[in-house]
Amino acid sequence: MTTNATTEQGPADFAIAHEADLIRVRKVLRAEAEAVGLNLVDATKLITAGSELARNILNYADGGRGRVGIERVYERGRRGVRVTFADDGPGIADIGAAMTDGFSTKGSMGLGLPGSRRLVDDLTLTSEAGSGTTVVIVKWQR
Ligand SMILES: Nc1ncnc2c1ncn2[C@@H]1O[C@H](COP(=O)(O)OP(=O)(O)OP(=O)(O)O)[C@@H](O)[C@H]1O
Ligand SMILES: [Mg+2]
Repeated sequence: MTTNATTEQGPADFAIAHEADLIRVRKVLRAEAEAVGLNLVDATKLITAGSELARNILNYADGGRGRVGIERVYERGRRGVRVTFADDGPGIADIGAAMTDGFSTKGSMGLGLPGSRRLVDDLTLTSEAGSGTTVVIVKWQR
């Protein structure tokens, strides 16, 4: 939980295990962004961050498996979308490093996590070596 916002409803909660699930993530995020009234730029930012975090599950979680939960949130008269990515994979030993531009354990660009943080209003990463990883992002209507 990253904010005190009340949850309006939980439109979607599904498994991430295949490339095709990324398409579903993008599709549901597009619909939810529209439903809560995010503008096109903010919707695109949310979808881009969501794609990166779902891809990290495919790339790093055990068996490339995890879950995504997508909710509408409401706080002080504004609406938003909160997305939770969770896996029971190897976890992240050094969160500070993982959130740094250019850090990658797979020789990739190392921009997924720090880039996602810049694209949303809030990103909370909870992880520990051996304990899986949970990333929660929130994007608010403006
Ligand atoms: N769900 C996860 N489980 C375990 N480790 C993760 C997870 N997500 C990210 N990491 C670790 O954090 C590092 C940084 O992630 P980030 O998404 O920023 O970069 P990347 O995936 O390596 O490269 P890019 O996303 O730019 O292609 C990864 O290289 C990986 O070591
Ligand atoms: Mg990544």
